[in-house]
Amino acid sequence: MAKLQAEAIKQITEIVERYKNEETPMMMILSDVQNEYGYIPLEVQELISSLTGIPVSEIYGVVTFYSFFSLTPKGKYVIGVCLGTACYVKGSQLVIDKFSDLLKIKPGETSEDGLFTLDALRCVGACAIAPAVSINGKVYPMVQVGQVESIINEYRAKEAL
Ligand code: FES
Repeated sequence: MAKLQAEAIKQITEIVERYKNEETPMMMILSDVQNEYGYIPLEVQELISSLTGIPVSEIYGVVTFYSFFSLTPKGKYVIGVCLGTACYVKGSQLVIDKFSDLLKIKPGETSEDGLFTLDALRCVGACAIAPAVSINGKVYPMVQVGQVESIINEYRAKEAL
């Protein structure tokens, strides 16, 4: 979406139109754009700004504040490792480090093949099953370092089918 194509401009304009009667439409617009395209690059923020009159700086501030929004394309599988207190004390830092090692990406990055994005999360409300890992919404309970490789392989195997 780097160079905005006519089709993308049309779709984003439609999303903005959807919320034209809302008093504070920014979060709804950004959520829809994120869901539709998977990321919200600067060109898109500028377009939303010109359509809504919301300053780009304000849009950028929101996009970079919430981890749900992304400036770059996310991988097909988004791995979220909870680093909240309950998970942390049960070793989630080691778990995220292992994902990082095996995928050769830091938290916030996407693997070169575009398959995996690694995210560090705050408490996801699953403290009873700490350390918790979620992949595209599927939650893995009590994940230990030794399981990380097989979890990754589970997704790699899906791709090989
Ligand atoms: S601290 Fe990880 S789910 Fe609550």
